[in-house]
Parts: sequence; structure tokens; C-alpha cells
Amino acid sequence: MTIAITGSTGQLGRLLIDALKARLPARDLLALARSPAKAADLGIAVRQADYDQPDALPAALAGIDTLMLISANELGKRAEQHRHIIDAARRAGARRIVYTSLLHADTSTLSLAGEHIATEKMIKDSGLAYTILRNGWYTENYAGSIAGAVAGGALIGSAGAGRISSAARADYAQAAAVALAGEGHDGKTYELAGDDSFTLADLAAEVSRQTGRAIPYRNLPRADYAAALRGFGLPADFADAVAGWDVSASQGALFDEGRVLSRLICRPTTALSAVVAAALK
Ligand SMILES: NC(=O)c1ccc[n+]([C@@H]2O[C@H](COP(=O)([O-])OP(=O)(O)OC[C@H]3O[C@@H](n4cnc5c(N)ncnc54)[C@H](OP(=O)(O)O)[C@@H]3O)[C@@H](O)[C@H]2O)c1
Repeated sequence: MTIAITGSTGQLGRLLIDALKARLPARDLLALARSPAKAADLGIAVRQADYDQPDALPAALAGIDTLMLISANELGKRAEQHRHIIDAARRAGARRIVYTSLLHADTSTLSLAGEHIATEKMIKDSGLAYTILRNGWYTENYAGSIAGAVAGGALIGSAGAGRISSAARADYAQAAAVALAGEGHDGKTYELAGDDSFTLADLAAEVSRQTGRAIPYRNLPRADYAAALRGFGLPADFADAVAGWDVSASQGALFDEGRVLSRLICRPTTALSAVVAAALK
């Protein structure tokens, strides 16, 4: 049984491979990497695989049982990239695909949802067994905002009083390892999110508590937040997308209280305070 993992050189992929090595023999794992040299330290076999080189993908996937598709990171190109590797998995005779989607992808107002829904459909249409891991926000996404808040004296955003049920990458990685190594996950779609939710004002309060400085949350209209992000050097399109995600968060797009993630990993999800402490180190 070979599990081939895309995104193996990324932050989630590395955590996932660690979690899988604790459960399965290393010989059952295969890292797929567009730059194999970057995967040389993973301690498992590596094959070259670039979503943008579709002709080479079926050979890269030859002999695998399961494709762990960690969603790609180039917004707007991902659906096409995912189509290439899903098609290759089918042609290579894989049995199953496990995919990292987006929390409530089918109803989400986040601009990210479209590519995830398209990918979920491609996976279902492939006829292969599947497990969809609809991951919520990574708490680590706020590391940059926390650093900016400490430097600037206020946390800024457009999420209003929206509650955010984020979890740490390590929590999502462990859930993926459970789905990959365990039984009974075929045909399932899991909505994965943190046990506890917080607002950006709560986040600012936690940063204040840990730094001993009063750092308030300042809510901005979307256009003003996007302008501030451009001022920090983000490209205009990305700044607007980030501000838009906050507006969606203000409407509840990042909230979930199902606690499916902690049930899957048999422990509470990582506390906000722990991620803030790591960001402040
Ligand atoms: N839930 C959330 O809050 C959240 C936040 C950010 C991202 N995400 C999604 O979750 C995924 C994993 O997160 P992460 O933090 O691990 O992201 P990451 O560190 O950016 O890792 C992305 C991985 O995708 C690989 N990749 C990119 N383009 C590729 C291509 N053309 N062919 C093959 N591999 C390619 C990268 O390889 P290289 O090492 O060669 O670049 C890297 O291994 C992201 O890709 C994104 O879809 C979710």
C-alpha cells in the first residue's frame, strides 16, 4: 500500500509526513515534489511531480494505492493543476484520493471556494474512492498580522465580530494522517475546524496579554484594509483577496462548531494561545 503525497515540501506536507511515519512504515510512503532535492530530508522515497507537467504525472504515480492531494498554492491555477494530477492518478490505477478542501466549501462565501468545489467534483467524477478533508483556517495565518500588530501597536482587519474556528497546521496534518492510515474514511467529507472560536478582537487581547502591551483591534472597511496590506508590500490582487476573506469571516465563513477535527485526532485542537506564543518567539 503506497500513499503518494503532493505538497510534500510544504508546511502542511512536512507535518503530515511526520504524522504518517509515526503510523505506517516509511516504505509505504512516497513524497511527490516538483524539486526532489527539497524533499531529500523527508526520510521517504521521492519522485519528481509537477502539476504543470501533466505528461510526466502518470509515471510518477505508477503503482500507488492512494494519492494524498494537498491543494496547490497558486490561486486561479489550482483547479487546472488538480485536474492534471487527479487524471494521472486515475490513469495510473490508484484506488483512492484524499484531498484538502476548504471548510464548508459548498456554501462558503470565500473567493477560494470555487477551485475547491471544482476539485471535489473532479475527484468524485474520477470514480476513485475519496475522502475530502474540508480544512478550516490555519491559526498560523495570523502570524504576519501578529508581528504587524506588535510593530504597529494595533491589529487591523475587516473581520468585524466574525468568529473564527481556526486550528493549527499540525492538527489538520494529524487528521489527514488518521484518514490515510485508518479504516472507514472512504466516501466521507469532513468539516475540520478548531474546537474554540475567536474574533480578531480576542486575538488582539491574547497578543496584548502575552506581550504585556495594550494592542487593540481596529476594524477597517475592506478597501482601507486592502490599502493597508498594499502598504505592507502585498500585491494589489492578493491584498484585495485577503481583505475579502476577512469580510467573509465577518459573515461567519470561518466558523464551525462541529468539533469533527478533535474527534478525528482524539485530542483537543491547538489553543490560540499556543500559536500566538509561537508567533511571538
Ligand atoms: N487552510 C488555510 O488556512 C490555508 C492557508 C494557506 C494555504 N492553504 C492551502 O493548503 C495547502 C498546504 O498549505 P501549506 O501551508 O503547506 O502550503 P505551502 O507551504 O505553500 O506548500 C505548498 C506545496 O505545494 C507545492 N507546489 C506548488 N506548486 C506546485 C506544482 N506546480 N507542482 C507540484 N507541487 C507544487 C509546493 O512545492 P515547492 O516546495 O516546490 O514550492 C509545496 O510543497 C496550500 O497549498 C493551500 O492550497 C490553506
